[in-house]
Amino acid sequence: MSTPRVAIITGATRGVGRACARTFSATGYNVTLFGRNSDLLNKIVEEIKERSGRVLGVKGDVRNPSDVRDAVEKTLRNFGHIDVLVNNAGVGYGLIPLTEFSDKQWHETIDTNLTGVYYFTKAVIPAMKPRRSGIIINISSGAGRHGVGGLSAYCASKFGVIGLTESVAEEVKQYGIKVVALCPGGINTEMHRAIFPEHEPEGLLTPEEVAQKILSLSDPDDGTRSGTSVHIHKRY
Ligand SMILES: NC(=O)c1ccc[n+]([C@@H]2O[C@H](COP(=O)([O-])OP(=O)(O)OC[C@H]3O[C@@H](n4cnc5c(N)ncnc54)[C@H](OP(=O)(O)O)[C@@H]3O)[C@@H](O)[C@H]2O)c1
Repeated sequence: MSTPRVAIITGATRGVGRACARTFSATGYNVTLFGRNSDLLNKIVEEIKERSGRVLGVKGDVRNPSDVRDAVEKTLRNFGHIDVLVNNAGVGYGLIPLTEFSDKQWHETIDTNLTGVYYFTKAVIPAMKPRRSGIIINISSGAGRHGVGGLSAYCASKFGVIGLTESVAEEVKQYGIKVVALCPGGINTEMHRAIFPEHEPEGLLTPEEVAQKILSLSDPDDGTRSGTSVHIHKRY
């Protein structure tokens, strides 16, 4: 029997991250689920354990580098290696004009959506390098390619994720590590419903559809070129 693949999924307590937790573990992955909310984290961990999946819940904040290192160390101790990192945790406020946006909201957005991706990417590369393999999937957004009025901080963070993806991809290709960005359109999650309550669910991707795309990007035989931004969307 081959060794199970191992994935770390950030922001795994809700939305796309939770759908990834279910999708990856149903396919045989050992998963580390990282999130801030203990109750929601325990709930998804227990659900996966009941289905006899191997799962580790690590409570932490992507803005805190020691929480991030802790998650990577615990994953290595429990599962031995890391094949995939899904940098999914994110926040969005909106639609708020820049002049009315608070500095606190600006820093929370950039620190979570961009600096969190930086911390986790930096922490997993040393574990991937010696195995000369590994796939890092950064969740950007359609708003990482096109500015949206009222979402300046969010767009700045998601444009930044694409720049980070393209640059790190070049740095790590010599070690066989692949880095890609996924740019989804609207997804039917708490985040989207809070920002765009008028959007009809039929025009939105489901978290499960996005998780399935992330799973296919995590396949070592997937042909997507490292450094690429992959787009998926429905109507919005
Ligand atoms: N929904 C959309 O339309 C859409 C479209 C394109 C891209 N995206 C991106 O897709 C990703 C997932 O979004 P979603 O729609 O699933 O949103 P969501 O339902 O709001 O879930 C966001 C997840 O990120 C976690 N999170 C937030 N801040 C965190 C932090 N500092 N440390 C650790 N975890 C944190 C949340 O947990 P807490 O309970 O701790 O807050 C939650 O588990 C995000 O990067 C988002 O920007 C979303």
